[in-house]
Amino acid sequence: MVTERVKELISEIEQITVDSKDQLEAFRLRYISKKGVVTELFEGLKNIPQEDRRAVGQELNTLKNLAQNRFQEFNAAIESASDTNPEMVIDLTLPVVPNQQGSLHPLTIVRRRIIEIFERMGFNVSYGPEIEKDWYNFSALNFADNHPAREMQDTFFISKSEGEVKDDMLLRTHTSNVQVRLMERQKPPIRSIMPGRVFRNEAISARAHCVFHQVEGLYVDRNVSFKDLKDTLYHFAKEMFGKESKIRLRPSYFPFTEPSAEIDVTCFICKGKGCNICKYTGWVEIAGSGMVDPNVLTNCGIDSEEYTGFAFGMGIERITMLRYGINDLRLFTENDVRFLRQFEGA
Ligand code: PHE
Repeated sequence: MVTERVKELISEIEQITVDSKDQLEAFRLRYISKKGVVTELFEGLKNIPQEDRRAVGQELNTLKNLAQNRFQEFNAAIESASDTNPEMVIDLTLPVVPNQQGSLHPLTIVRRRIIEIFERMGFNVSYGPEIEKDWYNFSALNFADNHPAREMQDTFFISKSEGEVKDDMLLRTHTSNVQVRLMERQKPPIRSIMPGRVFRNEAISARAHCVFHQVEGLYVDRNVSFKDLKDTLYHFAKEMFGKESKIRLRPSYFPFTEPSAEIDVTCFICKGKGCNICKYTGWVEIAGSGMVDPNVLTNCGIDSEEYTGFAFGMGIERITMLRYGINDLRLFTENDVRFLRQFEGA
């Protein structure tokens, strides 16, 4: 009788599955707890005739061990499931942790925008070395041997030549070196912009830095005129600073362009009325430019009778400062996240 019951219970326990803590608790109450069936059967042992008691006792022990082993197994399975099942470890009622996204550096944002505007006008993008020969940074660009820009206070020289021929190595002071390299290896038409890092030996302050970025542009073809230069930069100014922007050209001087002009754009902070960004002139300077000097074309193996070209160059830091109203150049290199975070999603 008891043996029958034990057999039933054994097969019952062997077939049971337990998937949750609640089911596990029900299992424990039914088979293992002090009020469970196994205890009850043990208590009934005293009513079993003396001669059978030992055998029945052994059967009950088997049942008890089975129940306990199964309980351990179920318990372990549920514990390990709750380690990997996110619903069991993540408290879905907790408030959301804000998504901490990085942001592009403001100089990257502006460089990409400048590139995008010129690409739409048919310019491609060229790059060149930051460590450069004198020829590409100066001589080919029509800098006289004694031009002050070659002097130590402006240029970081890497090696200085002794002889007559200038073969110094230096850190480029502008990205115009890429213009020379491009003209040397490619026949016109050339229509390209050159973004990059440049170096000048200047004390670091709010308005000057020894490392900064430029984008230069070069267009060489038959019949390229000053009007093309003006139209190109006017279009750029409207795209970059807003449709109402106007530009003005002021005569200037660069060894590699003739004639040369400084490009100003109407101050987009005060719309030309006058504010401290434009120093109450209504205009801010954004670029140097000019028609490529025929000497430069000749130096690069391009026939200056057949071809003309224009070039321009602008500082990415300067444009970024104007666009975002930033008043200190040093902020760009300090990597203060409070500054950088302001450009999230820009
Ligand atoms: N290379 C000049 C500079 O660094 C900028 C410039 C480029 C001016 C092309 C005219 C034409 O200041």
